[in-house]
Amino acid sequence: MYLTPEEEKLMNGYSGPTYQKAIEILAALGDIYGADRLIPIKSAQIAGVSYKTIGDAGLEWISDLKGKVVVPSILNPAGMDLECWKEMGISRDFAQKQREIIKAYEALGVRTECSCTPYNIYDDLANFGDHVAWSESSAISYANSVIGARTNREGGPSALSAALIGKTPNYGFHLDENRHPVILIEVEPKLYDSDYGALGYIVGEMIGDKVPIFNLNSIPTKDDLKSLGAAMAASGSVALYHVRGITPEAGKFELPVEKITIQEKQLKEVYKSGEPDLIAFGCPHSSIGELEKLARLLEGKKVKKEVWICTSRAIKNRYPGLIRQIEKSGAKVFCDTCMVVSPASEKFKCMMVNSGKAHKYVPNLCGGKSILASTEDCIRAAHR
Ligand code: F3S
Repeated sequence: MYLTPEEEKLMNGYSGPTYQKAIEILAALGDIYGADRLIPIKSAQIAGVSYKTIGDAGLEWISDLKGKVVVPSILNPAGMDLECWKEMGISRDFAQKQREIIKAYEALGVRTECSCTPYNIYDDLANFGDHVAWSESSAISYANSVIGARTNREGGPSALSAALIGKTPNYGFHLDENRHPVILIEVEPKLYDSDYGALGYIVGEMIGDKVPIFNLNSIPTKDDLKSLGAAMAASGSVALYHVRGITPEAGKFELPVEKITIQEKQLKEVYKSGEPDLIAFGCPHSSIGELEKLARLLEGKKVKKEVWICTSRAIKNRYPGLIRQIEKSGAKVFCDTCMVVSPASEKFKCMMVNSGKAHKYVPNLCGGKSILASTEDCIRAAHR
C-alpha cells in the first residue's frame, strides 16, 4: 500500500510509538486486503469498551497509548451505567476497572458517550458518502446501509488507530464495486416492530456476509432498519444491505439473480413463548421514538418483573420528563451500557427481548435463555 511521505514519517516513529503502532496496524490491514492507500475519515466509533469483553489486557493496551485522536470519535457501550452501576448490581472492583478504561479513552480525546447508536446523538459523524471507521456491528450496518456512509467492519484497535491517524485503508465497503447487492430477499409478510429483528435474524444466518437487497411488503422506519441491520450483523456478518425504495443507494443497482423468499411461517418460528425473569429493551440503544412508545405502553401500570431499557446518556439527558414517566412504572432506564455487554444481566436465567440481535447474543454472551417477542408482548410479560 502506498504511504505518503508524512505517513512514512509516522511509520518511522517520528511522532512517537502510539502513532507508529496505529499506522502499522492500518498499513498491515491495507496490505492484507489490497488497499492502494489510506483515505481520510470523518469519524470513528470505537468498540472494546466493556471491561467484561476486554479485561485487564485491553485496559493495559489502551492505557499505554499516548496521543490524541484527530477526528470526532465516540465509544461503544461500556459494561455498566457509569452513574447507576450499583443499581445494576455491578461490583465495586468491576466499576473501578470500567472507569479506568473510560478515563484511558478520554485521555486520548475520545468522546465518552458510550453508545452503539452514535447517529442518534450527533448529526456530524457520518453523512451520505462519508468514509468512516466504525466498529460496532449494528452501527456499521446503519452507517453503510441507512446513512449511505462507508465503513468496513473495524475491530476496536483498527478503529482507534484510524481515529489517531484520521485515515483508514481504502478497501472493502469504501469502494463502489463492493457495495452492490448480490442476493435479492423477497419478504412476503407485512412486518411490524420486532419482525424486522426476526427477519434479520433469519436472513443473517442464511447469507453470512453477502450484501442483500430487500423487497419489503411494508414501509420500515429508521428504527426498524436499525433492528433489521443489527440482527443480520449478529446472526451473519452483514455489514451493508439495501431496501428497494427506502435506503439511499438501493436505486443504483440492477437486481441480483440469486433470490431467497421469506414467508410468514419462517418469521413465526423465531418467536417462542416462555417465562422471563428479565425483560430488556434497547438493543441497539433505544431512540427517542422507541422510548416514547415504551412510555405509552407502560403508562399507568406497575411492572411486576425486572425491566431494563437501554439508551444513550445523551438521549436520557435530553428527555428527563419522558424518562421519569417510564421510571414511574418501575422499569429501569440504563445508559452507557446494554444487556449484552454488561455482566449484570448474567444473573438472570431467561431474558425476553424485542431485538433480533440481543436474541442471538444473549445465550452465548450472557449465559441465559432468550425469548424474542414484540414490544407489546414484552410489556404484557412485564405485568404478569
Ligand atoms: Fe448495542 Fe449492546 Fe445491542 S452494544 S447493538 S445494545 S448488544
